[in-house]
This record gives sequence, structure tokens and C-alpha cells, in this order.
Amino acid sequence: MIPETLKWIGGVEGYLELIDQRLLPGEFKKLACRDTEQLWDAIKTLAVRGAPAIGVAAGYGVVLCLQQVDGDMARGLRAIAKGCDYLGSSRPTAVNLFWALDRVKRKAEDFAAANAKASLEQLQAAVLAEAEAICREDKAMCQAIGTHGERFIKEGNGVLTHCNAGALATAGQGTALSAMYEAKKNGKSFSVYADETRPLLQGSRLTAWELQQAGIEVTVICDSMVAVLMRQGKINLVITGADRIAANGDAANKIGTYGVSLLAKAHGIPFYVAAPSSTFDLDIASGDEIPIEQRRADEICSWGTRQTVPTDAGVYNPAFDVTPAENITAIITERGVIERPDTENVRRHLGK
Ligand code: MRU
Repeated sequence: MIPETLKWIGGVEGYLELIDQRLLPGEFKKLACRDTEQLWDAIKTLAVRGAPAIGVAAGYGVVLCLQQVDGDMARGLRAIAKGCDYLGSSRPTAVNLFWALDRVKRKAEDFAAANAKASLEQLQAAVLAEAEAICREDKAMCQAIGTHGERFIKEGNGVLTHCNAGALATAGQGTALSAMYEAKKNGKSFSVYADETRPLLQGSRLTAWELQQAGIEVTVICDSMVAVLMRQGKINLVITGADRIAANGDAANKIGTYGVSLLAKAHGIPFYVAAPSSTFDLDIASGDEIPIEQRRADEICSWGTRQTVPTDAGVYNPAFDVTPAENITAIITERGVIERPDTENVRRHLGK
């Protein structure tokens, strides 16, 4: 079964229920986010993670912004502006976060402008409806990405993925993994290799768990094993997700993805990126401008409870890297496929 990563429970006074991804695969537990502080923490600490899922969660976060407000719509709009700034400070790289916050905030402003006499309750209902729309659209985008992407997986292929770009990273059945789910539905048999994805192990903890739940066989490898497997001919294609794609097709994704793209190129293996249009940031020309999240040093200083780095040794922990468009064979979106991504092909594909 494909897991349901997040769900709004109740009406405007409801709450967001998430699978707590920090605990997987050992424990399956739901986490209730009832205010913006809890949601901010859930995003920051990766209880909910993956660009599209962060966006959907943030959309619902705007509903939470209004639950503490007493008074009229003007107060509501001020609370939304403040809450959006706050939620937007949780993580910098996945553009879906900002995209969703902006979209719901704009909806609230437009609603207020067009309905000057409406009540705060009516504003709340409009905001919840927009957050629900983002969630519904994300599910549909995942399905469409899978439909467009499955054709790249051929019978008997070995498919490598990095990090988790599956159901756990979206409201639907994922992006990169959606192609695998569709290929399986179409009766193809293939093997999946999941990079462990140091330091927070989204590949071994989450991708392997999710694929197992869906009945797809998966082999976990350390990140450092990719070159060997490629040389042995075990990998026929790579599919990853993305956190932000610049106008020229450069794509930020989990740290290590750039290295995998270089190895794929060196071995003549196609490298695909699967992402919805909400992951594109056409305001930036190239990947050089994508803000890269730096995370705490202690994330890479231990193995379980055992210290693995000498106290006071220098540690560098960027959470993402950028794969240049020239290393990407094609980008798969809900609209179809961008072959040889560059500024012209990206804009044409998105109709912008
Ligand atoms: O730090 P994370 O776990 O949020 O990083 C997630 C990724 O890098 C995913 O590959 C990306 O968000 C695409 S999800 C469809």
C-alpha cells in the first residue's frame, strides 16, 4: 500500500495530521500539528519533508495561522502575512514551500478585496479551500508524472534513485517513485537500488520502507557504491526528484545527487529528474542562485548513539546540491517530458 503522508482533519478549526518521518522505518506514528509552531518544527526537523509535501503542509499551515485570530478580516490578513513569513523561515531550498504560502496568501487577499463585508469565518473557509486545492492538485500531478515517466523504465532494468521522492515526499504517490509505481502497474519487472542518502538516510529509511509497503523489491546501497554498480552494468537509469529547478533546468536535490549525475554521465546512463511545475523557479536564471540549506553539524557526527567525529573537528553539512541541466537527460513533469532541458525548452514546456 502507498502511504498517505499528510491529511487535514476536520474543518477550519481542524489540524494537520502527518506521518512522523523521523521515526521510520522503526516506528509508524502520526503527528498532529495544531499550530504554526508545531508545523514549523515538523518541517525543520523533517517530520514532514520532500519539496511537494512541504508545500502542501505549508498551505494548510495558513489555515492554522487564522485559528488564533479574534476579530475581522483585516486582522486575519495580518496574521496570515506574519504566519507565512514565519513558516517560510523553516527551510530555504524547496521552492514549493514559498510557492504554496504565496498562493494561499494571495487567495486570502483576493477574497478580502472582493468580499469587503465577509466575516473572518468566511475568510477561513476560503483559505482552507485553497489549501485543499493544492493538496488535490499535488495528488493529480504525482499521478501524471508517473504516467509520463514510466515509459523510461524498461523490462528488466535496474533503476537507481537518491533520497526519497516518493509518496512520503508528496501528497500523492510521489514523483520519481510514481514512475516506478506506474511501471509496476503496467506489469514490468525491474530492480530498484536506493542510495542510503547520508546523512539523514532518506533513501534507506524512507524509500526502502515505502517501496516495500508497495510490494516493490528494493536493494539499499551506500552512496559510495554507485560507481561500482554502474560499472557492473546493474543500473540502466537514474530517476530523482528535485527541490527547486531554475529557469535553465539546473536542479537542486538532496546532497549527493550531483555526484550521481556525474557518474551517470561517465557511464553513459540516462539521468531523469521528476518534479511538478510547482518545483520550478523561473525567477532565477540558473542553479547558482538556489539557496542551499546548511544543517547542523551534529547530524553527521554520530552513528546511532556513538560519536563518529572527534569533538571540535570541522564539519560541513549542506543539505542539497545542484545538478547542472547538461547532466540531465530529461525532466519529467505532470505536463510531459522536457528533453535536453535548457532555458528555451523549460519555458516552452511551462508555457511561460
Ligand atoms: O531534506 P529532504 O528530505 O526534504 O530532501 C528531499 C529531497 O531532496 C527530495 O528528493 C526532493 O524534495 C524531491 S521530493 C518529490
